[in-house]
Amino acid sequence: MILVTGGLGFIGSHTCVSLLGAGHDVLVLDDLSNSSVDVLDRIERVAGRRPLFVRASVSDTDQLAEAFAQHDVGAVMHFAAFKAVAESVRLPLAYYDNNVGGTLALLSCMKAAGVRSLVFSSSATVYGSPATLPIREDCPRFAVNPYGRSKIIVEDILTDLAGSDPSWRIVNLRYFNPVGAHESGLLGEQPRGAPNNLMPRLLQVAVKQREVLDIFGDDYPTKDGSCVRDFIHVVDLADGHVAALRYLAEHSGMTSFNLGVGRGISVFEMCHAFEQSTGQSLPRRIVGRRAGDVAECWADATRAHTELNWRPNRDIDAMCRDAWRWQRHLCSENRGGSVCRP
Ligand code: UFG
Repeated sequence: MILVTGGLGFIGSHTCVSLLGAGHDVLVLDDLSNSSVDVLDRIERVAGRRPLFVRASVSDTDQLAEAFAQHDVGAVMHFAAFKAVAESVRLPLAYYDNNVGGTLALLSCMKAAGVRSLVFSSSATVYGSPATLPIREDCPRFAVNPYGRSKIIVEDILTDLAGSDPSWRIVNLRYFNPVGAHESGLLGEQPRGAPNNLMPRLLQVAVKQREVLDIFGDDYPTKDGSCVRDFIHVVDLADGHVAALRYLAEHSGMTSFNLGVGRGISVFEMCHAFEQSTGQSLPRRIVGRRAGDVAECWADATRAHTELNWRPNRDIDAMCRDAWRWQRHLCSENRGGSVCRP
């Protein structure tokens, strides 16, 4: 049984599908602070099996201890965390409490239960503004906001833990920019409140919930002036977790892996690809740079290729088509609701 914290979120839910598809049993622990219980039904429809579910926060050590006592948990995948950069600047204590404190609570419960295999959700944000590209795992880390710092702190805690006791097996996954959705159109990203990321905002423009897409700067020193990111299809990212689990079975200690495609795509290129793939037009306007954005960020994913034996294989066209299919599905479910005109 794999315990998946935050298993109803965007990356967590797709990973549940991949785990179930690979034959694992899954127990989701999620406090629904940024997700909905309906996602369990969606996972079941897509995967053909329903994960077990406990509604609880990772900080709730009683519920965690109970979950470990009742189920034969072999490994934990820890997704549950806050992830909005701007919010973390406003609410640093909430971020350290949930992201760092929650992880400490989870680790203590794992230790007490004798469960010592963990896959941790880190982020490319730990690299801050990278000095060299592509970014390798041994690049210096530098936090530019409390969210990024919370990930660096947890990485350091995990390093100390693995150093203290060789029976710990920890894979630290640094995600680049996940986009797309399950190809069934039944599972995807459902941000609560106003989204911050490019793809959900772009989808809002495509369904006319938002009039125009703001492009945050066209004067960066990049190939076309817009920022460049390593966009990766969320199903490829999810499959990376199954590969990480295989790796854990054979390796002790802690190892970090970049999960990205290894190719930089600009914001303009993403907009153009979306229009080509879906036939939708995206009204856009150039506005000023967004505070805290780095010009370019993409991965050297060689280590994940060679050691995890994992390779992303869905291209930018699939990222756009699948995200669009999911958005249309959401619109069809909300017929008669707010503006949604695919
Ligand atoms: N962008 C726009 N218009 C928008 C939204 C975004 O031009 O409406 C641009 C941003 O300025 C940036 C690019 O699109 O240049 C990507 O922005 P996202 O917000 O989608 O993603 P980020 O690269 O800023 O951040 C994401 C996650 C972080 C994570 C980071 C890791 O949100 O949590 O990737 O690289 F840390």
